[in-house]
Amino acid sequence: MTSILQVNTEILKQAQEQIRQDLKFALDAFSLPEPLKSAVYHAVMLGGKRVRPALCYATSHLKPNHPHYAAVRRAAVAVELIHCYSLAHDDLPCMDNDLIRRGQPTCHAAFGEDTALLAGDVLQSMAFEVLGSRLFDTQVAVDAKIVLKQMQILATSSSKMVAGQVLDIQAEGKHVDQAALENIHRNKTGALMQAAIMMAAVTVFEGTDQAIPKLREFGQAIGLAFQVQDDILDVISDTETLGKTAGKDEQVDKSTYPALMGLQGAKNYAQQLHDQAFQALAYFGDQARELNEISTFLLSRKN
Ligand code: IPE
Ligand code: IPE
Ligand code: MG
Ligand code: MG
Ligand code: MG
Repeated sequence: MTSILQVNTEILKQAQEQIRQDLKFALDAFSLPEPLKSAVYHAVMLGGKRVRPALCYATSHLKPNHPHYAAVRRAAVAVELIHCYSLAHDDLPCMDNDLIRRGQPTCHAAFGEDTALLAGDVLQSMAFEVLGSRLFDTQVAVDAKIVLKQMQILATSSSKMVAGQVLDIQAEGKHVDQAALENIHRNKTGALMQAAIMMAAVTVFEGTDQAIPKLREFGQAIGLAFQVQDDILDVISDTETLGKTAGKDEQVDKSTYPALMGLQGAKNYAQQLHDQAFQALAYFGDQARELNEISTFLLSRKN
């Protein structure tokens, strides 16, 4: 069982610092008019656990000394930009209508709905521009095949995220069954978590490597577990700890795992999914130390 393991957050902290620098470097390379620029920095630079970049880096570390480190760094930036866009849009009044995000006013609360909407739009384009750029490159030439694979993965998962968001909104006030809820969560959240892992996987491993299906299995389990845990935290945590309004899902009668199977049922399910994720990682032995550490953090996280 994972719950008895001690949680070490060292790898996550290193990833947070790396991605902070890289996101700033990437944003500074764009020339945006005000107030769009301030809204974009607000949506991207203020807090966030940065778990998608952390998963991206840790996946790439399964293959030490690979030559595509710049491509991994671009993938980590790109997936976080898509995530930040999704949050700015998720919080809009026409969506979840939230006023607090990462302990700050949401993007639209600070800059207005029009600017927040456009900040999300531009973040999406920026993510793909970063992937196709030479950002962070030194000597190694950009490998076009890798860039194409990364773009396909990110584009597919972003579309799934939007599809999941539509289903999430439609399921408000309804009682959907477990299969339908799983479909919502795998799309709205799991797909992008999976993309963070798979973009790194296709960058450092050959397409035929058995590591790829193992990482897909890991990503599927951890991606779904992440949203189950998000639903649980909405019930058991408080607004200050979460940095977003606690109890919100129940208030608007969202379809969530605690609503479907009760709080303890949801906790058991999150643990079960984490066990599946750890089983997939067992294939890598000690080399998966970083991914194990991040996964352990995800199950025990408080926000
Ligand atoms: C929140 O994601 C939205 C979901 C997809 C559940 P995170 O919990 O990763 O949010 P930040 O980036 O840490 O703020
Ligand atoms: C968000 O799910 C999924 C996204 C694609 C942003 P939630 O609506 O549950 O995320 P929070 O709780 O607002 O962070
Ligand atoms: Mg939502
Ligand atoms: Mg929300
Ligand atoms: Mg939530």
